[in-house]
Formats: sequence, structure tokens, C-alpha cells
Amino acid sequence: MCSILGLSSDSDVAPTLVASLKRMEYRGYDSVGVAIKNGSNILVKKGVGKVNDVNASIHMDKVNGNVGIGHTRWATHGGVTVENAHPHLCNSGPVGVVHNGIIENYAELREDLEKNHNIVFKSTTDTEVIPNLLQIYFEKSHDVKRAIMDTVGKLKGHYAFVALFNTGELVGVRNHEPLIIGIGATNNLLLTSDIIGLPENISSVIYVDNNQFVIVKDHEYDIYDFEGNVAQFTIKTIPKSYQNVTKGSFRYYTEKEIFEQPNTILMAGEGDNNCLEKITQSIRDSDYVYVTGSGTSYNIAVIAKYLFSRFAGKKVEHVMASEMKYSSRYLVSDSTLFGISQSGESADILESVSIGKKKNAKILSMVNSKNSSLARESIHSIGLNCGPEVGVAATKSFTSQMAILYKIADKLCENCLAINFHTISNAYTKMLSNTSHIQELAKSIKNIQNLFVIGRGIHYPIAKEGALKIKEITYVHAEGIAGGELKHGPLALMDSSTYVIVINPDDDAYVDNISSVHEIKSREAKIIGISNKPDPSYDFWIKIPTIREELYPLIEIIPLQLISYYLAVERGIDPDYPKNLAKSVTVK
Ligand code: AGP
Repeated sequence: MCSILGLSSDSDVAPTLVASLKRMEYRGYDSVGVAIKNGSNILVKKGVGKVNDVNASIHMDKVNGNVGIGHTRWATHGGVTVENAHPHLCNSGPVGVVHNGIIENYAELREDLEKNHNIVFKSTTDTEVIPNLLQIYFEKSHDVKRAIMDTVGKLKGHYAFVALFNTGELVGVRNHEPLIIGIGATNNLLLTSDIIGLPENISSVIYVDNNQFVIVKDHEYDIYDFEGNVAQFTIKTIPKSYQNVTKGSFRYYTEKEIFEQPNTILMAGEGDNNCLEKITQSIRDSDYVYVTGSGTSYNIAVIAKYLFSRFAGKKVEHVMASEMKYSSRYLVSDSTLFGISQSGESADILESVSIGKKKNAKILSMVNSKNSSLARESIHSIGLNCGPEVGVAATKSFTSQMAILYKIADKLCENCLAINFHTISNAYTKMLSNTSHIQELAKSIKNIQNLFVIGRGIHYPIAKEGALKIKEITYVHAEGIAGGELKHGPLALMDSSTYVIVINPDDDAYVDNISSVHEIKSREAKIIGISNKPDPSYDFWIKIPTIREELYPLIEIIPLQLISYYLAVERGIDPDYPKNLAKSVTVK
């Protein structure tokens, strides 16, 4: 979602703010802005578009001043306009705010501010009430700490914001949305929603807890809870891989992340066998196991059901995180809830965990960010260890999540799978070493309107994941369908302009898939077969290596990721920043 930043330093902050905003752009990229304290004024520069484009036209990085705030936006309230871009100033100007999340009661606050305080709003956002409340309370008490406490007492919803006072205070507030303090040398103190925002020279961080705020003034910082008590905190060091993330020689982050998978697949859950063991034990001991996630992470939850039931006889139910609220009455008390999330910050999964907790569920999780909210809500949380994933489309995190599921399944069945992940890594290297045939395919289908992906059994969630990738970054309508369901409806859509991708490794679903292929071909649709075996009915064959039958899901996703990526490029779409989306969806 939106990225929020604040920086206090010995030198001009604008260049660092803009560079950090560029790295955090994946959280939201419809508009961008900075506000810098310059003397007793707060200067705002903001515009609609991506960081580099806006900066090229209004030079946000050239404003002088040693303390400032910045924002990239993913619009929730109010259209994508300059007026709605952050930062927002209070009416009279001395307080500026950048915000992530939603102020649920903004309409009534706005009405009250208009009626009783003569505030004239300049935007249609929910955010603009915050700087005005801060200013009104600050005028009353002349105390920043008091003004924050009074303001958060009025706000409803899940939010984090960073405020800049013209008296020099920089303030960060966290209520269910992430906020991190980065502590660097030369008096650099950075407030950020994401560790990717940290400049290279900052590796010490404090993860601000929920319902806490930090006040930075004159290179000092104090952390309080919402009641005003001094808060305890620990300083942690972030891994090197999260500092100064770049695309390297790749054209896009998405491409880089797909090609990193021969390495990342080896890192999943590594170095924390104890935690993996505890997660396995909790699943083993539980009569009811629910697995939940959103989007790609939900597809993983579906795969968990297949793996845990097939290899360990464990009955598992998958629940879409956003549906947990409506399924909660069916949740069995004292169960185990296994939350899957790359970011560990998606609002839907955090809500589903809090619903689970009310039913006394034991919370387990799998996350890429070990210090994320989800990890902190869990009794055991295992890390994907795949490094920062910047591309909005989840790619390497998906294969790492799947690898961890296989590791748990293997432990549950007392090593019946005995997987050597080097075999998988080698298969990835092989598939990624020559992608020219997939690039040719992408070129030949670049004008299609619809793509269907079919798979059966455990390959069905892989088909769903492939379709999700395609629609997300190519804007082609795509559907993942269980092969047997074709004749129950989707066949009506097949004609000579239709392409169907069939996930068809040589396993127990092979013969049934070939029957589906014939049904599809009879309607003159074209078949793209992903298989280790050729078949004359394929119009296009994407060969995958032959491996042990149970492990095909780990490798058949790679061609689907490649088709999505190359199709996006062919269609002139930036796969890293698909329209209307953002990485880490922290609002409901
Ligand atoms: C995946 O390509 C999507 N960008 C999206 O579905 C994502 O998987 C979902 O929003 C969940 O995110 P999380 O894993 O960080 O919780």
C-alpha cells in the first residue's frame, strides 16, 4: 500500500527521501510527494505519476532542509490527483502528514472540523483530517506528545502516519500498519513503513509496536504508547540483502526475482529446523488445521491441503483470508491456524489471525519478513529467506512457500518424500537457461484476449496461480480451471481464438488431461502443453524436466511465470508496477 517516510539528518534530507521513495514505490505508485521543513515553513512538492517522472519535472530532491517526510500513494479515498497526493498540510500550514491505511471515521471528523473549526479541506482524502487535528491540539497544549495522544484518541481505523511539525519534531504513529525506525550514523533517523526504504548506511532498526508513537527531535528519539507511557524497545540489525536493493543487470525486478529461484529455493526455511519441527508438531497434534492466505499465498494454502492430506493423512481446510470473517462461525475452537504471507502485513491475513485468536487458535505462520506483524502474532513463524521481493507479482516467494510446505509434509510423513532441493534447483537452472521458445510463444500470442490454464489435483492451485500471474501483469483475462470442470461450463468459451495452457506432467492426471485436450481441440482452441512428455495434440509444447512425480508442482510454475513475464513485456506493460495494484495490501 502507500509508503510513508520521515527523515531527520545533519544534512539535506530531500535526495535521500526521494531515493528511498523510489525503492518503496512498489507499495503504491500513483502519486508521490515530499514535505521539507525549511526555516519555519514546510515546503511541499508533489505530483501524479511515478517517482522518477515526478522528480524530473518538479525536482523534489532539490528542496533544502534537514528534516522532511515523503510518500508514494495507492489511492483508497479520493482519486489520483495532485490535490490528493501526500503530504497534506493542516489549514494554516505548520503541520504536514503522510499516511498509510484508512481513517474510518474521517467523514464525521471532517464535518466537525469544517463546522466547528472553519477548516477548509483541499483534498478528498481521509488523510487531511490528521494534520488539522494535530494542529488544533498542538495549539491548545503547545506539546507535540499531547497533540498526538489527543489526535489518535479521535481516529478510528488501521493506520500509520508520519507528521512533520514546523517546530522541528518528526513524529511516527503506528496503529495496525507497519512503522520502523532506522538508526544510522551522522544523526540519521529514518521513519519508514518498510525496511526497503532504508538507505544503505542504515542497518539498525526498531520495529515500533502497535499503538505506539515515536517523537524525533534534535537527533534524539523517544517512543511512547498511546497512553503516553515510555515504551520498551529492542534494536535489531536487518539482513544485508535488504539494503540498497537493485535490479542488477535485469530489466525488471520481476525478471530478476524469477531468475533468482535456483538459489532462493535452497534457502526456504533453512537455518531454522527447530522452528520447522515445532510447526510440524503443532500441525501433527491438532485435530483441526486451517491454512489461510490471500492471492498467491491463498493458492499455497490450497496446495497445503493436497500435500498434508496426501503425504500425512492430515485433514486440512483452506480458508481465504478475506473470507475468514464470514467463515468464523464454522471455525472449530482450539484449532491450529497456519497463516501464509510473503509480506506478513496483508490486512486480510492479520484480520483472519485475530479472528482465529478469538477462537483460541494456535497461530503458526510462514513469512518472508521475519519481523512482520504476522510473524509477531504467531507462536511459531518460519522464514522464506528469499530476500526482498519487489515485483508486485509474487514469484520467488511462491516457490519458497511451496518448498516449506514440502518440508513440513516430509516431516509429517517421517521422511517419506526425502526431497533433495538441489534437484529442484538444477531443474530451475535448466528451465531458465534457455527461455527463447517461451519468448517466441509470448510474441505469437501477444494480442490474445483470454487465456485458460487447466490442471487437476494438486496442479489445479498451480493453474490458479498461473492465471493470477497472467491477469495481474499482462491484463489478459485468465482463468485457472480444474480440468474436469471444463465440460461443466468453460467449454462454452472455447473457439479458434482461444488458447488453453494445460499443466500436464506425466503423473496420474496425465491421461485425463489428454482427454480434456481433445475436447478443447474439437472446439478448435489451441493448446499450450507444459509437460515432460510431448503429445501431438499440443500446438505448443513447453518441455519441463522429468523429476519424481510428487515434485512436479515445484517446477511446473516456472514456465507459467515466464509466460506471464514475457507476455507483459510483449504487451508493453511494466510487470513490476501493474495498474491498480500494489505490493503488500495493508488495507481491507
Ligand atoms: C501475487 O502475485 C499478488 N501480488 C497478491 O495476490 C499477493 O499474493 C497477496 O496480496 C498476498 O500478499 P502476502 O503474501 O504478502 O500476504
